Amino acid sequence: MSNSKLVLVTGGAGYIGSHTVISLVNAGYKPVILDNYSNSDPQVIAGIQDILQQPVTHYQGDCRDWDLVNSIFSKHEFEGVIHFAASKAVGESVEQPLAYYGNNLDSLMMLLKAMNQFNVPKLVFSSSCTVYGQPDQLPVTENTDRKPAASPYGNTKKICEDIIIDVVKSNTGLKAVALRYFNPIGAHPSAKIGELPLGTPSNLIPFVTQTAAGIRKVLTVFGDDYNTPDGTCIRDYIHVMDLSDAHVRSLSYLDEQQANSYYDFFNLGTGKGTSVMEVIKTFEEVAGVSLNYQVGPRRSGDIEQIFASVDKAKEVLHWETTKTMEQALGDTWKWQQIISKTS
Ligand code: NAD
Ligand code: WQD
Repeated sequence: MSNSKLVLVTGGAGYIGSHTVISLVNAGYKPVILDNYSNSDPQVIAGIQDILQQPVTHYQGDCRDWDLVNSIFSKHEFEGVIHFAASKAVGESVEQPLAYYGNNLDSLMMLLKAMNQFNVPKLVFSSSCTVYGQPDQLPVTENTDRKPAASPYGNTKKICEDIIIDVVKSNTGLKAVALRYFNPIGAHPSAKIGELPLGTPSNLIPFVTQTAAGIRKVLTVFGDDYNTPDGTCIRDYIHVMDLSDAHVRSLSYLDEQQANSYYDFFNLGTGKGTSVMEVIKTFEEVAGVSLNYQVGPRRSGDIEQIFASVDKAKEVLHWETTKTMEQALGDTWKWQQIISKTS
């Protein structure tokens, strides 16, 4: 088995990918980034290199471009691939299903083809808690059945998991884990990289920080009549640095598996549910600002509450979160203040 420490990170200029590149280097890996910058800025590479104080190999291009992928795999002897690259906006996926199926499925299949051809054994795949829909029991464990997807985006994650399972079953030497992220938030504590949403954010945390920074006038809380203690929706918000560490741990976990082909999947969350109102109140305390918000109607397609059971990740992967919601919101606020100044 290759032990080159070289890891291809697709989507490595994106939000979670860029933070994972930092964790990989800190753990002794040599990441190689492939990103087409469809949802990121090439400047992110400068931020990564600034934090690491060393250059990071990066290619601009599309995972679906076989000639490029083939040339990258020919040049570097990878021991694994962490596949972040995907289109991820739920609402947009409803409007442009073919673009989402096209990008998310074809990118994965192209990489699996290259991994097979070049005998690259390990794959870490970015999946999502969206595969559970509104689970019948909370916290949601990995034994919970996946629900029919509520959006084409969610369906791509389910189908991608299934494609990986089928390839593992074909016993051609693929060892893979799918990581089902809950709600990633936060930024690198240096505030040199963070989430860079293009246009008006649809996710809660960037909307909160942009409102506090005066970029948005008012944050709308989407419904306060849910069957939760304060009436607002509950999610499991996980610091992006904790999430990044789980990818590094997943690579060594795959090394420990003796089988020729292997598949497993893990929830990555904190195990704690936090309501929208709790997020707002914690942010106000951490940032020392008063947030302009109003309660509005429910957002169509929102589930009432979801949070992870993290027992499997703790017991099997030997990974758990170390950062608090306060740290995550503090780091995001620091990052927002930097990007507000420079844009
Ligand atoms: P992101 O959009 O910030 O990063 C994805 C990166 O992939 C971007 O830099 C984009 O330019 C690149 N990319 C997209 N298609 C590409 C292609 N065909 N070829 C090369 N590069 C391509 O997203 P993120 O938040 O960092 O998410 C990373 C992964 O995690 C995605 O697969 C996403 O679906 C999944 N995920 C994200 C969340 C979340 O809330 N952020 C939650 C669950 C799962
Ligand atoms: C969180 C909560 C909103 C904005 C999405 C994807 C999911 C996964 C993670 C990729 C909800 C409320 C939000 C606002 C609000 N991504 N909210 N006002 O919907 O849990 O998950 O990202 O796999 O697939 O659907 O995240 O940040 O959009 O919302 O009140 O302006 O904040 O109703 O309860 P969500 P979110």
